[in-house]
Amino acid sequence: MRVVSGIQTTGRLHLGNYLGAIKQWVAMQDQVAEAGGESMYFMADLHALTDRVAPRELADNTIEMTATILAAGLDPEKSIIWNQARVPAHSELTWLLNNVARVGWLNRMTQFKDKAGKDREGASVGLYDYPVLMAADVLLYKATHVPVGDDQRQHLELARDIATKFNNDYGVEVFPLPEPMISVAAPRIMSLRDATAKMSKSNPSDMTRVNLNDSDDDIAQKFRKAKTDPEPLPDSVDGLEERPEARNLVTIYAALSDITPAEVLAQYGGQGFGQFKPALADLAVAKLGPIRDRLARLLDDRAEVVRVLERGAERARAIAGPVLREAQDAMGLQL
Ligand code: ADP
Ligand code: TRP
Repeated sequence: MRVVSGIQTTGRLHLGNYLGAIKQWVAMQDQVAEAGGESMYFMADLHALTDRVAPRELADNTIEMTATILAAGLDPEKSIIWNQARVPAHSELTWLLNNVARVGWLNRMTQFKDKAGKDREGASVGLYDYPVLMAADVLLYKATHVPVGDDQRQHLELARDIATKFNNDYGVEVFPLPEPMISVAAPRIMSLRDATAKMSKSNPSDMTRVNLNDSDDDIAQKFRKAKTDPEPLPDSVDGLEERPEARNLVTIYAALSDITPAEVLAQYGGQGFGQFKPALADLAVAKLGPIRDRLARLLDDRAEVVRVLERGAERARAIAGPVLREAQDAMGLQL
């Protein structure tokens, strides 16, 4: 078992990233080690280039995000943690896989369509090729399991298609098919202002999300102002069906406290948001406050964060090298 996942280093991490991805990473780290497997998590700084950011800002984001996942509980003794750019094999394998992936496959990627918008001709080739780099990220380590949020499911299916075609075309068994692991508790946390849109760092309004470095007051205020309907909470999950805002807040409560939405409603069913929102805010402050405080301490020693990434990159390169050579060999690139 080899678990591999990444996170794009654009902007700051929010509650959706935490509940949908990082909390799972932390929870799995010990289970995977007990099962004799390996956990590998990287900062996708090469992917961040597809969202044009200033160089200084990109470097700061990478440091800050690394510090955030360490603050959330990832342990460099238990997991390999690095940044993509320091392992050139990610880029090298991407080029090999570019010749396996089909234009028709990439044309179907919904994230590209969303991000490119109307001006497809003006979109970068990098944005278009993003899913192939992502396939290389996991295939390079022969990943068996990839924990991601629901929005990355299509990209992972593409990675499986690329692996299958590579193995078939060259008559080899180089790449195992990576299994997506979508968080059951929090597949998709929605915006606090509009429950039809996912909570995202790219939303211009900061009130739509809770950031992992928000102050206690910010957290409380964002939940207090979260959009809701006037009805009290229902007694069972069926009653959340047509109530996306209520469902989102109940999902967040459940995921933060590791209980089911039914258990949340057993406790709060019949109560109004006037009671539920402060309880949710207190819970979020209790769970996220310690992460924020550890993050602040870690950022006092930037050099230590860089050292964690350098050591991780060395270990990642040692695993990636032989796999890249296997792929090159299959394609006739080893003399
Ligand atoms: P964003 O959409 O905010 O730019 P990313 O695309 O960088 O976030 O996502 C990083 C990880 O967090 C991915 O595994 C993604 O699936 C997960 N994720 C992002 N937003 C959410 C959300 N609202 N709910 C659940 N998981 C999410
Ligand atoms: N595309 C992912 C995101 O937006 C980040 C990512 C890059 C990733 N490469 C990956 C996730 C490989 C899992 C596996 O968050």
